[in-house]
Amino acid sequence: MRDLPDAMPLPVAIAHPVHDPADYRKALSCFATGVTVVSTHWQGEDWGMTCNSFSSVSLEPRLVLWNIRKAASSLEAFVRSGGFVVSVLSQAQKPLVRQFSQGDMASRFANVPIQRGEAQRPRLVEALAWFDCQLHQLVDAGDHHIVIGEVVAFNCHDAEALVFWRSQLGRIASSPTAS
Ligand SMILES: Cc1cc2nc3c(=O)[nH]c(=O)nc-3n(C[C@H](O)[C@H](O)[C@H](O)COP(=O)(O)O)c2cc1C
Repeated sequence: MRDLPDAMPLPVAIAHPVHDPADYRKALSCFATGVTVVSTHWQGEDWGMTCNSFSSVSLEPRLVLWNIRKAASSLEAFVRSGGFVVSVLSQAQKPLVRQFSQGDMASRFANVPIQRGEAQRPRLVEALAWFDCQLHQLVDAGDHHIVIGEVVAFNCHDAEALVFWRSQLGRIASSPTAS
């Protein structure tokens, strides 16, 4: 790849400055994502929250990221435990989106089958895929932190994907065909 100059010129034309936070959130919601539950084990307790900011960063080393609100009650657990699991939710796990976005930790994990991996971190059994990670880097970013993890174990299963788009949960209309 060619060398990039140290200072890249930034595009300056912003056609419609966005003032209304609701409009801004609506525009962001046009980007379809999957939904995950990120979880960890800290001070003898399981911690977890619904998260759709998950993304892959690097293949070698295997790095993934997600963003956590600085005000989240589980922030300290995710930072101090030294690792986390990302469980990618399947259609069958749709009710967990709400369950893991509110309430105390005991009610979030109530009746949810889990298995434990590295450092007792819980992963959700019916997940489409899971990634067990060691905390690699925490990046300060506005009202969130970007949490970067190095994947130490992972697995995936054949199940139907859960999709989040325009603040609604849905499914992929047609199954992808092999090419
Ligand atoms: C679909 C969906 C995606 C979410 N994604 C994120 C996310 O990427 N980062 C985040 O900090 N919160 C996200 N949240 C909100 C958290 O799940 C929620 O604020 C958190 O569980 C509340 O816990 P607290 O009471 O400990 O702050 C999401 C919620 C939903 C419903």
